[in-house]
Amino acid sequence: MASASVSGTVSGAGAAGPAAGAPARVAAASTVAGPLPDAAPLPEAAPLPEAAPLIEFRHVSRLYGAGETEVRALDDVDLTIRRGEFVAIMGPSGSGKSTAMNIIGCLDRPSLGEYRFDGVAVQDLSQDARALLRRHYLGFIFQGFNLLARSSALENVELPLIYKGLPRAERAARARAALEKVGLAGRESHDPSQLSGGQQQRVAIARALAGSPMVMLADEPTGNLDSQRSHEILLLLQELNRKEGITIVMVTHEPEIAAYARRLVIFTDGRITRDAPVERPAGAVGCETGDTAGAPESGTPGEKGARP
Ligand SMILES: Nc1ncnc2c1ncn2[C@@H]1O[C@H](COP(=O)(O)OP(=O)(O)O)[C@@H](O)[C@H]1O
Ligand SMILES: [Mg+2]
Repeated sequence: MASASVSGTVSGAGAAGPAAGAPARVAAASTVAGPLPDAAPLPEAAPLPEAAPLIEFRHVSRLYGAGETEVRALDDVDLTIRRGEFVAIMGPSGSGKSTAMNIIGCLDRPSLGEYRFDGVAVQDLSQDARALLRRHYLGFIFQGFNLLARSSALENVELPLIYKGLPRAERAARARAALEKVGLAGRESHDPSQLSGGQQQRVAIARALAGSPMVMLADEPTGNLDSQRSHEILLLLQELNRKEGITIVMVTHEPEIAAYARRLVIFTDGRITRDAPVERPAGAVGCETGDTAGAPESGTPGEKGARP
């Protein structure tokens, strides 16, 4: 059955995914069985081979409707994403990407199968517990930025921290730190209309970041940005992935954008039809210094052709 072989491939690639991006010596020490295909030398870019599974789909299906009109938005999907991965999800319109993201983000649940987040079976959680999980472990970035128009950058970033119940002073401090991390120090009091599209998306990333998420889920995060702005946002995501160890799952329909990730998963008709490491991610992932965003002249081989 097609889905069985897809499942097999997917779990295998999931296990090999992080190790495939690991330095050769780490890969050699890996406990992953079998040969590691195309191990790319990406120092410090790779999660440790023993990184625990963070997101696990086991035979996940999501059905809409019934009988004649039944749609299998997801059809028996197996997927493992480990801590520290940066995964791009691609696929034609209607292939199940958003459905998968909604399940990963605990906004929706599988009709069949199991979704575990950090070992916890999400479908067994109450609605409140899922909301807590979202609030404390997940950050969301959307194509449309979703900022409050009449609120300053700082207030926008603070908002989710209010729901977390943090005291005012700590909220402000965290929000400022997050804005600084995304390169918006000094823009705290600007409202969205006073910021460019790229800056607005940075505010949205800061908002996600302020909650110290384990995972960032990004649905077409650069869909509204020109290619230079997209490049900068992707470098920022790479930096958060590498330096902060944040696991990133990003949906995009542009191969140039997916190329910044370290693993590419392709959905077709609700199934995963491809799952492979990105051998040489675009941007500056391989950069020795670890300082990516402002290092256009670092001359790393990966730098060339980084621009979409
Ligand atoms: N709420 C819904 N009700 C009925 N069908 C839906 C719903 N959401 C998604 N679908 C269907 O599920 C399939 C996958 O949708 P989606 O995950 O949004 O795809 P993608 O994000 O890859 O474009 C599509 O056929 C879509 O029409
Ligand atoms: Mg979609």
